[in-house]
Amino acid sequence: MRVAALSDFLLQRIDRSCGKPVNRQLYQVIREAILTHVMPVGLQLPSSRDLARELSIARNTVTYAYEQLMAEGYLETRAGAGTFVADTVPDQIPEVAASNSLRPMQAGSLGLSERGAQLVKHAGAYKFQWGAFMPGVPDVTAFPNKVWSRLQNKYWRRSRSELLTYGHGGGHAPLREAIAEYLRVARSVNCSAEQVIVTSGIHQSIDLASKLLADVGDRAWVEDPCYWGTRNVLTSLNLKPVPIAVDAEGISPRNSDLRHPPRFIFVTPSHQYPLGQVMSLSRRRMLLEYADMHNVWIMEDDYDSEFRYASRPLASLQGMDTHDRVLYFGSFSKTLFPGLRVGFVVVPLALADAFATGLSDLYRCGQLFTQAVLADFMVEGHFASHIRRMRVLYAERQQLLREAISRNFGDALAISGDDAGLHLALLLPERCDDAAVCRQAQEQGIIVRPLSGYYMKPSRAKPGLILGYACVPSEMVGPTFDRLAGIIRRHL
Ligand SMILES: Cc1ncc(COP(=O)(O)O)c(C=O)c1O
Repeated sequence: MRVAALSDFLLQRIDRSCGKPVNRQLYQVIREAILTHVMPVGLQLPSSRDLARELSIARNTVTYAYEQLMAEGYLETRAGAGTFVADTVPDQIPEVAASNSLRPMQAGSLGLSERGAQLVKHAGAYKFQWGAFMPGVPDVTAFPNKVWSRLQNKYWRRSRSELLTYGHGGGHAPLREAIAEYLRVARSVNCSAEQVIVTSGIHQSIDLASKLLADVGDRAWVEDPCYWGTRNVLTSLNLKPVPIAVDAEGISPRNSDLRHPPRFIFVTPSHQYPLGQVMSLSRRRMLLEYADMHNVWIMEDDYDSEFRYASRPLASLQGMDTHDRVLYFGSFSKTLFPGLRVGFVVVPLALADAFATGLSDLYRCGQLFTQAVLADFMVEGHFASHIRRMRVLYAERQQLLREAISRNFGDALAISGDDAGLHLALLLPERCDDAAVCRQAQEQGIIVRPLSGYYMKPSRAKPGLILGYACVPSEMVGPTFDRLAGIIRRHL
């Protein structure tokens, strides 16, 4: 890693506004990078003077971090040669969460259950959740903090104790009302507030719906490729995800698949994840008819449909359903910020009470205070105007990324998907090792996910890179992709 690459890597992870001393942050980021082998054994670090200059911080700050890391054995000095990553780093990283790589785990050695071991082995969540080109993360720096804090203060001043205790039922009533109103208008979802169950995000919605509607061993069709989270939540509940191929029209079951109706069909009709296509009307009709005929539940994951740049957002699949077979999953993770942890599932009216009860009993939910603030945020129009602003910003960033791709590769590499969402899928030639590209990119401080990792069936896996652009400052999109292009070229 060169000085410039290392300083980029560090700059992306040091937050001067978070109140934590920079010397401590620097120490922690370097320690983490050593433990996760992003900074390999033997790597020479720049002198404290050079690094301080690159990061525009005091030399003392770097010296403090280096000395602490030396004292703990992570770094060593070699007389006359400089500072290096020491080779005494333990192979076993204490916290599982510290690893980005899918580190194999022995179920027995840790006492994990079979499914626990599977979950850890196939974990998809990255340690880094911010920076070029982290997929699925919006620009949280553009969130209107002042408006939010004004609304929040209003509730603190009133000291509403009922908002500070456990929640009961499907969430804070005014928020359920606001979400239902928004979904009816913006997404053509057919629903009343009663049908909206407020959760802590799509992950929890999938967990809840699976526990209430399926039994151990039931099969769930998932798109292949699909979002790793869906797959992992299902397997952790001992359900069986069945990978179904995807074509230009969306999920594409063969006759042999159709002969064995599953319990659930998980789909992303507005913006297939991660390839980006929109499910065709005829495929939507086919799925709805099939679901009705075989009593299958369709789980519509509508995670980022607000962001369409060349056309209006598309109507939901739920809005076309006349037999109450669709559950609609939504989230504020992409529209506002993922750390908010608020999402919702819209269920058929007949299931609303059962879902509200299940939610309260399983998760002992709360967050009513946050939900009250969010309700006001929506009712006062801040939600709609934030989406409008973000749409302009993300459209610009997507365009910058497309330009950078074509500047570097012309038409040689195809982009999958249309003008929508927070990421693009850049397809690589067959036999290109996309995971190796991602590993090298990460060493340079660039986060990218390999497309092949989203497939369940190895014979279908296509190499490619999932590039999130929404959280990358516009002026960084082109230059960072240019650096990534250098790595890609070495693998073509
Ligand atoms: C397709 C898809 N569904 C669901 C989620 C997760 O949503 P939430 O943050 O609400 O759990 C993501 C996050 O990236 C996603 O890409």
